[in-house]
Amino acid sequence: MNANPEKPVLISGNWKMNENHFEALRLVQELAALLHLPNGEKVLPDSVTVSVHPPFTSIRTVQTAIESDHVPVFLGAQNCHYIDKGAYTGEVSPDMLAKLGVQYVITGHSERREYFLETDEIVRKKTDAILRHGMHPILCVGETLEERNAGEAHKKVRTQLQAIFSGRSTEEALRVVVAYEPIWAIGTGMTATASDAEDMCAYIREEIGQLVGPEAADGIPIQYGGSANEQNSAELLSQKNINGLLVGGASLDAKKFVTICCSIR
Ligand code: PGA
Repeated sequence: MNANPEKPVLISGNWKMNENHFEALRLVQELAALLHLPNGEKVLPDSVTVSVHPPFTSIRTVQTAIESDHVPVFLGAQNCHYIDKGAYTGEVSPDMLAKLGVQYVITGHSERREYFLETDEIVRKKTDAILRHGMHPILCVGETLEERNAGEAHKKVRTQLQAIFSGRSTEEALRVVVAYEPIWAIGTGMTATASDAEDMCAYIREEIGQLVGPEAADGIPIQYGGSANEQNSAELLSQKNINGLLVGGASLDAKKFVTICCSIR
C-alpha cells in the first residue's frame, strides 16, 4: 500500500533505556551513512521529518554527531521535569534540553504513567513546560487491553486529551504532536490494525476540535505508536488521520528505521 508522498509526516525513534553513549554514537553514525547517498542525493522524502530520542546520557553525543555530520534528523528527548531548576535530585529540566537543541520531548508515555506514576496533572505541567521552552511535546495517549475490551478506549483517550487540551490556545495546541499508542501494542508485536488506529486518530482529531477548535483539529499532527515496523509502516501512514509514527524497538536498527522513514514513497 502506498501512502500519499505529499502528506507531511513525523517519524520519531524512541530509544527508551537502550544505547549507552558508545552505542548511541554508532547508531546515529549508521543513520548518517544511510541518509547520505555518495552522490549527494537525498534519501528522505521532502514531506518526512525525523526525530530521534536517545536517553539523557547520550543526548550531547547524538547532538554533536547530528550537527557535525549534518544528519537530517531532529534531536528529541524522552522525558523532562516541569520546573526549570532547583533541588530535584536526579531530574533533568526542560531548560537544559532546550539549551542542547532538543526540539521534541515525549510526554505522558504509558511506561512513565505506569512505572513512574505520572498523572494527567503532571503530564499537563510537563507539556506546558516543554511549550514554554519552545520545544514540541509528543503527547502519548492510549488505552489498555482491558479498557479496549470493555469498550472504554475512547473514554480513556478523551480523558487524557481533556487534561492537556482544555483551555489551550489554537497556537499552542498546534505545536503539540499527539501520539496514539494503544498500551497493548507497545513492545508486544501486536500492532493495532490500520483501520483501528485510523479510527482512534480520527476520534482524537474530533476531540481536539471540541476542546480547542477546528483549526487545531485540522492542523495537529497525530502519530501512531505500538509495534510500528518496516512492514506495517506504509499501511499505517496511508491512513488519512495518521501523520507519523512513534517507533520504539524498530528505531534501534538503523536500516529498519530508515526503511520506515522512507515508506511513504
Ligand atoms: P514499540 O514502542 O515500537 O517498541 O512498540 C513504541 C513506544 O513505546 O513508543
